[in-house]
Amino acid sequence: MKYDICITIFGGTGDLTFRKLLPALYTMSRTRKLPARSKILLIGRRDYDTASYTALARDWIRKFSRLPYSEESFEDFSGHLEYYRMDFSDGTAYEGLGQAYEAVQAASHIFYFAVAPRFFSVIAAGLKTISNLKEGKIIIEKPFGETLSSAKELNRQLESCFGPENIYRIDHYLGKEMIRNIQTIRFSNPVFANAWNGKMIEAVEISALEDVGVETRGGYYDASGALKDMVQNHLFQILSILAMERPGAFTSEEMHARQLEVLRALKPVAPEDLEQSLILGQYDGYRSEPLVSPDSGTETYACMRLFIDNDRWNGTPFYIRTGKKTGLRETEVAVIFRRPDPETEPDILLIKIQPTEGIYLRFNIKRPGDSEEVITASMDFCQNCILENQVNTPEAYERLLTACIEGERSWFSQWDQIEISWNYIEQLKQLAASRNLPLHPYLPGTRGPREAETLLNTFGHHWLE
Ligand code: BG6
Repeated sequence: MKYDICITIFGGTGDLTFRKLLPALYTMSRTRKLPARSKILLIGRRDYDTASYTALARDWIRKFSRLPYSEESFEDFSGHLEYYRMDFSDGTAYEGLGQAYEAVQAASHIFYFAVAPRFFSVIAAGLKTISNLKEGKIIIEKPFGETLSSAKELNRQLESCFGPENIYRIDHYLGKEMIRNIQTIRFSNPVFANAWNGKMIEAVEISALEDVGVETRGGYYDASGALKDMVQNHLFQILSILAMERPGAFTSEEMHARQLEVLRALKPVAPEDLEQSLILGQYDGYRSEPLVSPDSGTETYACMRLFIDNDRWNGTPFYIRTGKKTGLRETEVAVIFRRPDPETEPDILLIKIQPTEGIYLRFNIKRPGDSEEVITASMDFCQNCILENQVNTPEAYERLLTACIEGERSWFSQWDQIEISWNYIEQLKQLAASRNLPLHPYLPGTRGPREAETLLNTFGHHWLE
């Protein structure tokens, strides 16, 4: 065997590969997470050869690498790269790819489908025609299909071609340090573990605000919108980890089972509650973005209130909000503890996910000195302000690629989670459409439509701003 592993990236000249995958693989090579005998085969239609592709890769890695760029490590890394020009939508092109694999002689394979879902089937079918191909793992990204029914069909096809145990569905939020930290914060601190229920918690807010707009992804985004792009996957994953019962063991099966219970228990929004449960917005100027329809009705902002129908959470609202062009990049979870009386400020736990990674806790004290006045005070722990933590914390894609190489599946999305979440959001969208829920405009650089503030303030939690 010449190589221990061959990682083939379909979509080798796409945005995801340049911005995320190559920088992650480069850092993995620097930190020795990439097996020394690895081949990385980049597949694209464009007319590069390995040398010209490598020169291009260098620029992207210089720009997006987590660790500072070094010429020496890039030289090491570039030895893994090979560009293979091919039209992957052409079923007859796979014979040539098979010959390339003969030359590589790898003991194992990973196939990363960094392409639109309409190409998944043709690539899967093409790979299946290659004889002598050792078993491979498939990595796919959302959207897993264009509609729920097309996603189901694709899923069936991929699972039957490669086996369900070999399909790795990336949700890169699951690779983020502080999202992985939620279970530790919840279960390893008695002060929180014993109070993690609706009797002690008044509300939970999950907020993912972005400064950027849709940039070059208007074509994809316009058919998707904030609910499908962010809520259905990333934010529902956070929600289910926050709300799940304690797993008996922290194995992937147990984690998935507990998360699934939460998603199953999400209460559908009743038609008469829609206006108090969902606010959609669109930033001014969105309709003039490249590849966006000039009369688009797609939401770039969503704020919702959800309830989980189980003993632990009955009656506790979970707020989710996400939006593009909101003037800041900030993802965090806020847990608001019940007040002993309405005059007392609530204690608040913030789990800061990005760009700051850390924990903030707000509580009440007596104003120091002669006064008996009650004031709030806080403790603020910034994890990524410490250089050592920055250096030692892998970026989400580094972590997930490493996990896939090692066959560790706990932090990938499972199909049943995706199906339930997709169903929930699809029903909500249908309800919104049938009741002509308004799409509120908002100015770029603001925190979304004003109407959302009313929803977020239902319980007086304007402290978030
Ligand atoms: C992606 C969405 O999954 O996540 C994008 O498609 C969004 O629209 C991105 O911008 C956010 O990721 P992150 O890691 O920057 O929070």
